[in-house]
This record gives sequence, structure tokens and C-alpha cells, in this order.
Amino acid sequence: MANIINGKEISAAIRAEIAEQTKEMTSRGITPGLAVVIVGEDPASKVYVRNKKRACEEVGFLSEEYALPEETTQEELLALVDRLNKDEKIHGILVQLPLPKHLDSELIIANIDPKKDVDAFHSFNVGRIMIGDYDFLPCTPAGVMELLSRSGIEVSGKECVVVGRSNIVGKPQAMLLLHANGTVTICHSRTKDLASVCRRADILVVAIGKADFITGDMVKPGAVVIDVGMNRREDGKLTGDVDFATVEPVASYITPVPGGVGPMTITMLLKNTLKAAQLQGK
Ligand code: GUN
Repeated sequence: MANIINGKEISAAIRAEIAEQTKEMTSRGITPGLAVVIVGEDPASKVYVRNKKRACEEVGFLSEEYALPEETTQEELLALVDRLNKDEKIHGILVQLPLPKHLDSELIIANIDPKKDVDAFHSFNVGRIMIGDYDFLPCTPAGVMELLSRSGIEVSGKECVVVGRSNIVGKPQAMLLLHANGTVTICHSRTKDLASVCRRADILVVAIGKADFITGDMVKPGAVVIDVGMNRREDGKLTGDVDFATVEPVASYITPVPGGVGPMTITMLLKNTLKAAQLQGK
């Protein structure tokens, strides 16, 4: 039987700390402000943006939402980013991905002021993470590190296996585990004998977007298993990348889906926005 890492509870504790700090900042005349930009009608993105806005309001941030039509041009979106870069009330800018195909996401992200890049997607911030000198960490990998540390799980010296190599999760996750002195392996779709690499892991982080992909036979007894996946099954239920039913009896700690990593991502966005406001307020 594994311990269940409760992301909702840990998230609530961190959000309470953020709300406290926000109150103190606001009393000094600076209210952290986040602008969230969404282009088009992607239903999942709309849900994420709504949740981000609500979370901002709950901790006392100023929150602005820019919902732009699908046919928005590159020039229009760049003009908005430029305006938000210059807006002193706004400390963080988040452009929800994916953008419609006619827009160049890389170019848009490159035009966000790195000081306001609370997603930590700008190449300047990615580079700073690589060398371990950063202001912002990408939200999902940072959330995973918080779940580990607040559950008393030591990373130093452990075999860490990250399944998935995306720019948003897998690659930065590996870097953060490395900064915490883990011995890190990154697996991906071309990895030979994935199961045996996964079975080496003391800490297994899975972010591949394939429902119930990691099964109990791929996990070392006593391993810590962190499931970043969020997939919708045919019956409409949400499920992760980890087959909870077969992995939970083998693991020592496991995150559920929903209620594990998910709530932490927005919490880390709040943390980055607070930090951005603190840095810009100086
Ligand atoms: N789309 C899915 N996850 C994210 C995220 O963390 N940030 C942004 N901007 N878009 C996303």
C-alpha cells in the first residue's frame, strides 16, 4: 500500500502562504498582477484559464484575462504582449498554449519580457534554469519538486527516471532533479526496454500523455511514483499516465489523478507571479 501524496492539500497550504504574503505586499501598495492570454476556443485551454483566473482572485492578485478570437493575427498578439510588457500593474504574462497553428508560439514567447515570463518558457529563463541561477521555475516540474520535499522525500543520491522529454515538463524536470543531486535518466519513445529503465527508479516521474501506460511490473517495489499525465478515458473519466490500480500496491508513494500534480501547477504559477511582483517592486 502506497502513501497517497495529496496535491490538493499541499497546494492549499502553499496558496495560504501566498495569500498571506500578498496581503502584506498589497498593504505596501503593490498587488501582484497576472495577465492570461488565450487565443481561440480550445475547450481544455478555456478550463485551464478559468482555473488560473479563479486561483489568482482567491489569493488576492489582480487578474486580467484577454480572450482573443481564433483569427487573431501574429501582429495583433505581439502588440498585446508588448502592451502588457509595459503595463506596470501586470507583473506576470502567460500566453496559454497551444496557440492556433497560424501563430508562431516560439516568437510570441520570445517577445514576453523575461522578467514577466511566469511560465519560465522564454529561452533566457530556460538557460538560467540550466545553470541553476533562476528566478522562475516552470510550473509543473516545480510543483513536482514541492510535492517531493513537502512529503519528506529526499532526492539526493536517488535514481530518478523521467519518462517524457517535452520542453514544458520532461527536460526541465530532469534538470530540477539533477539540481537536487539525483542521478537522472530521461526516457522517451525511442528508449530501448523502457520497462527495465523504469524499474531502476527510486523516483519515477511520468509525463508522456498516454493513459495508464506505466504498469505495476515496470515499477521497483518501494519506488516513489509521480504521475504528471492528465488523460480522458473513453468513459469520460480523467486518468493519468500511470495505471494506479497495479502501481499503487508496489510503490511507497504515489500521486493520484486528479488531485496530485494538477493543483500544484497553478500554485507554482501563483508563486512565480508573486516573485515577479516582488522583483519588479524593488
Ligand atoms: N498549456 C498547457 N500547460 C501550460 C502551461 O503550463 N502554460 C501555458 N502557458 N500553457 C500551457
